[in-house]
Order: sequence, then C-alpha cells, then structure tokens
Amino acid sequence: MNAHLPDTETIVVVDYGGQTAQLIARRVREHGVYCELIHHDAPPERVETLAPRGFILSGGPNSVYDDGAPKLPDWLGSGEVPVLGICYGMQLLAHAHGGTVAPSQHREYGLAEVKLDVDLPLFRGLPPSMTVWMSHGDRVESLPDGFRPLGHTDNAPLAIMGDPERDAYAVQFHPEVVHTPRGSELIRNFVLDVCGCRGDWTSAHFIETAVAEIRDEVGDGQVLVAVSGGVDSSVMAALVHRAVGDRMLALFIDHGLLREGEREEVATLCEGLGIEVRMIDAEVAFLKALDGIRDPEQKRRAIGETFVRTFEREAAAVGEYGFLAQGTLYPDVIESATTSDTQAAHKIKTHHNVGGLPDDIEFQVIEPLRYLFKDEVRRVGRELGLMESTVMRQPFPGPGLAVRILDAVTPEALATLRAADAIVRHEIEAAGPEALGDQFPWQYFAVLTPLRSVGVMGDQRTYGQLVAVRAVTSMDGMTADWARLPHDLLGRIANRVVNEVDGVNRVAYDITSKPPGTIEWE
Ligand code: XMP
Repeated sequence: MNAHLPDTETIVVVDYGGQTAQLIARRVREHGVYCELIHHDAPPERVETLAPRGFILSGGPNSVYDDGAPKLPDWLGSGEVPVLGICYGMQLLAHAHGGTVAPSQHREYGLAEVKLDVDLPLFRGLPPSMTVWMSHGDRVESLPDGFRPLGHTDNAPLAIMGDPERDAYAVQFHPEVVHTPRGSELIRNFVLDVCGCRGDWTSAHFIETAVAEIRDEVGDGQVLVAVSGGVDSSVMAALVHRAVGDRMLALFIDHGLLREGEREEVATLCEGLGIEVRMIDAEVAFLKALDGIRDPEQKRRAIGETFVRTFEREAAAVGEYGFLAQGTLYPDVIESATTSDTQAAHKIKTHHNVGGLPDDIEFQVIEPLRYLFKDEVRRVGRELGLMESTVMRQPFPGPGLAVRILDAVTPEALATLRAADAIVRHEIEAAGPEALGDQFPWQYFAVLTPLRSVGVMGDQRTYGQLVAVRAVTSMDGMTADWARLPHDLLGRIANRVVNEVDGVNRVAYDITSKPPGTIEWE
C-alpha cells in the first residue's frame, strides 16, 4: 500500500538517527504537508517514487569526521530540490560543500538566543531575536561554497547559514522541539514558502486518497478486520468500511481479559458505523491457556498464541476473505525499518497487539494507517465521524487485564480488578481534563496485587488484597511521569474501591516514573 498519490506533495526527512527526527515529520505534517522519514542510505528508488518537494536533514549522534559517519545521500541531487539541514544535517552540508566543522569550544546544550541577521522568506513572521534549543558538540566554523551567514548566537557565529539562490538552508538548533517556541513557524516557512507546497494534506485529503487506494487494491475482494475497541483498529475499520462497504467483516475476539463495558462499546461502535461484527467468545480458551501462569512473559506468550489460534480458526470459519486489514502505525514502520537486531534484542516486554498475527498468514495484508502518527489517526477518526470517547480512548494493552493481575489469572481475580478499574476510570473521567489540566493522565488504571494486609471494617477485622492505582502523564508511552492527581480525588478512589470491591481493603498510589518503572506492572 502506498500512501503516495501523484498529487500528494511530499517532504522527505533524511534520517540520521537523531532523537527528534520523527518530530520533524510531525511538525511538517502539522502544516498540511505530507512527510516521510527516509533512512540516509535508503536506495534511490525509495525516494524517487515520492518526488520530494524538499529535504530536511535531521540531527544525529555522529560527528562528520567520525569513521563511517553517515554522508549526504546521492539522491539528494545537487541543488534542484530545496534542503534544510538541522544540527548534524547542517554540519554535513557544510562538510560536503567545502566548509569546516570543528568541536565547539563551548558545547551548547539548552536554550540560546538566536539573532536573525537578514530578511528572507524563511524568516517570515519571526522576531529578530528568538529562543532556540541547542544540543550539539560540533559546529560549523567556516562557510561552505555559496553559503552566507543568516543568524548567530553568542556561542555560534554561524547558527544559521544558507544559499538562498539554491534554496539551501541550515540551522544549528532544533526548530522541531517545543523548546524552540517559534521553530514550527520556521519549518512552515521552509515547506510552504521555500519549497512552495500548498499545505492541503488534511485528514479529509488522507481519507480520500486512502479510500481510493483501498478500493484499488481490494478490487471486488472481501476484507477481514480484527477490531479491539482501540483507536487504531476502530479508525481502520471505519476507513475500510468507507472504501468497501459491506464487503468487510469485523472480528472481535473477546478474550475475557477486557475492562468493564468494553465489549458493549465495540458492538455500539460497529453498529453506529454500520459495520457487521462477529463477536467471538473465547474466554474459556484464554483462561485455560493462562491457568496457573504467574510469570508475565509466559502470560503474554500464552495470550499471543491463543489469539493467533483463535483468529485462524474463526477466519477459516467465515470463508472467502482474501484481505486482512491491520492497524499498523507509522512509528512501528519506522522502528522496524531502522531497528537493528541487537536493539530489537533489548525489547523490554513482548508486546502483543491485535496485529500480532502469524507471518505465514494466507491473507493479503493491507495497512491503511501505516503512514500516520497516533494524533493523526485520532484526527482521521474524528473526520470519519467516530465518537470522541473512541477517538480519545486511552491505550489498553493487547493482553488486557491479565498483565494487571500480578498473579495467576482467575475469573475471581478478573472480577475484582474489573470492578476496581471501573471505579478508577470513572472517578478520573468525572474529574475530567478541565479540572486536572496537564495532569489529566494519558493512561490510568488499577492493578491487582497478591499482597494482603490487615484492615478493619465496621467492627470486623479484614484481611484483604491491595489494589494499586496507576495514572501517568505521557506523550507517547515511551517515557511517563506519575500524574499529580489531587488528594481528594485519590481519596475518593480509595474510599470507593475499599467499600465497593469485595476482597480489597487497601489502595496504594504508584508514584514511579518511566524510566525506571514501566507503565504497566507486568
Ligand atoms: P510499558 O508498560 O512498557 O507500556 O511502559 C507502554 C505502553 O504500551 C502499552 N502496552 C502494550 N500495548 N500490547 C499492547 O498493545 C502489549 O503487550 C502491551 N504492553 C504494554 C502500555 O499499556 C502502555 O500504554
């Protein structure tokens, strides 16, 4: 599946391994221009099909003088297409065109004031002096051929350089990060004014092209979609449905590890969209596979295998479906394209998704969301008319409540956790983003621990279980901090859990950040 149609203007971010390379792509897209990250040594064919209107060279961990340091790719051409180098990208441009790069006497990490020394379309709307985020060791010492100085900081006389005749520019700071408050405007000016893009890549445009591509690919075939109730699979199902209508079937495998009300929500969602859904009751099979397992990784494996077996059986039972739609997103695509085997070996947890299907599957797989970031998926969902509660739904792990029971998974433990979790979710949602502001958690749930402690209720001594509440703020789940929830909200949660959930007599709040903790407890 290729998201690129001839009328889609594209900017290519040349990826040199910088931590913020993905952010550059997101910033470009925020200005309505489609953008892809391409590894710096990708083959030329990969780039030619995209016919880029501009290149942005990302930052990266290397020094241009390192042995084997990444170079400018040949497919960058020699000045036909506008280019913007960022940090390492700037140093590369300088090095490749006859300038010099040297370790800076003052390594610059943190905020700096950059003064813009000339008036150019690239600087449209920007103040003469602005705060920027620097993070570099090396810096450009002498200009490459044809370039002139465009801006400076106290530490870096060449903080911005450019050759406006060739539409080549470079900045030593990072315009893509929020710590460069006006950086997004600089990126906008580059893609709209320098590269001349229209900026019309919107959710509506995406839907139109994606629908056309799905129709093209599927022809008069039939599509099977595995839905989980999560944002990605819901948006994907709605999109595929718009493309092929009744020639699709949604499969929902109820593994019995769901939160309260979740199955009903999936049914309502599909009904609202006019999607035929087949609910598969597989709780017995999953509980059997999980019987007596306490080890988190073993649990994940048992669930993954049972999911695959169940899916295969059910897919065979429904008959002639040639296509399977999966909810893969762009970060997964980038990760699998750039992660080496050694990095992959450091995987902290085995993730299981509805996408975790066998490799030798007999379907032709379509991945209509493979070029989108999560926030874009949400926008597409809204444009497709999905309910806000679906679009903004918090992430929920594929193995469900099983990884929130720190013990063997039993129907009783599931019932206890489900009841406690419903209270946590209800109370936090009732407080709402308005009251909680930036502390409204990105993810929030209950964990059932096997710890027992003594309590007293009425005149009775109790000996019950400990429930932990986890609520974190995060951008993407990669790092997270514990949400500073108001004490009275935590008090209400504790009170209700202890009073309403049988067998629980104590509640603790988890105040560990990630790292060193993880979001889930297993
Ligand atoms: P951790 O616990 O690794 O979680 O900090 C990061 C994010 O990933 C979610 N998560 C999963 N999602 N399948 C999923 O689809 C999984 O197996 C899985 N394990 C963790 C977790 O809920 C959090 O949002």
